[in-house]
Amino acid sequence: MSKKVIALIVLGMFVLALGLAGCGGQTKQPAAQAKVLRVGSDTAFAPFEFQDEKSKEYVGFDMDLIKAIGKQMGYEVQIQSLNFDGLIPALEAGNIDAVISAMTITDERKQKVNFSSPYYKSGLTMVVKNSNDTIKSFKDLEGKNIAVQIGTTGADEAKKIKNAKVREFNTAPEAIMELKAGGVDAVINDMPVNEYYLAQGGNKDAKTVGDRLTSEDYGIATSKKNAELNEKINKAIDELKKNGEYEKIYVKWFGKKPQ
Ligand code: ARG
Repeated sequence: MSKKVIALIVLGMFVLALGLAGCGGQTKQPAAQAKVLRVGSDTAFAPFEFQDEKSKEYVGFDMDLIKAIGKQMGYEVQIQSLNFDGLIPALEAGNIDAVISAMTITDERKQKVNFSSPYYKSGLTMVVKNSNDTIKSFKDLEGKNIAVQIGTTGADEAKKIKNAKVREFNTAPEAIMELKAGGVDAVINDMPVNEYYLAQGGNKDAKTVGDRLTSEDYGIATSKKNAELNEKINKAIDELKKNGEYEKIYVKWFGKKPQ
């Protein structure tokens, strides 16, 4: 055999090997190509978003809802856990595509982001220690020490209370811990989250008093630059409401049908 022929055979084998390697790559491609929806959430807000102790997965009403929405739209949902006050900046910077985080639709936020149609009716309540019998309504919070989560509607409302000293924490559980430790007189936070906390054993140290302070709607936030995504999400929410999936998820987490 001439050197030329050997060289050609070696070259042929090389090309074949490359081709095979390419095939190997291709079998993996469909997964890599699946459309991904990058969703930001502050995952310390049970029962909406929290980490399952055993599986370490993010679970909750919002997590089930966004997964169902993603499925409906043909997207794989990837959750990124971020601080609540960093969610809208992350959206604006293009680091995530959407936010689901028990986020209230407010006029102020609407200046910066688009919101989906409302998906959950909420509002604010307060939690005090069981031993406290002087605070019975929001009026009684004047001049008191109040813990809230930074960047939330609870923080906004607390700041409106006359002479109150408001302490802001990165997460809602940290605000509650401060109440337990005796550092503050009350926590102002979303009602369903307070109820869940008390029902899960928090009622050993704490209770909720007074009426609901506000009425709020949660929405999924997306960038103003991506109006199409907001439309797709709204369409998916409509479909999930029609086909019973939304109700199924609601009942799973709240034990009753949505009103
Ligand atoms: N609903 C309140 C707000 O939008 C609190 C939301 C906090 N959410 C969370 N995942 N920590 O301001």
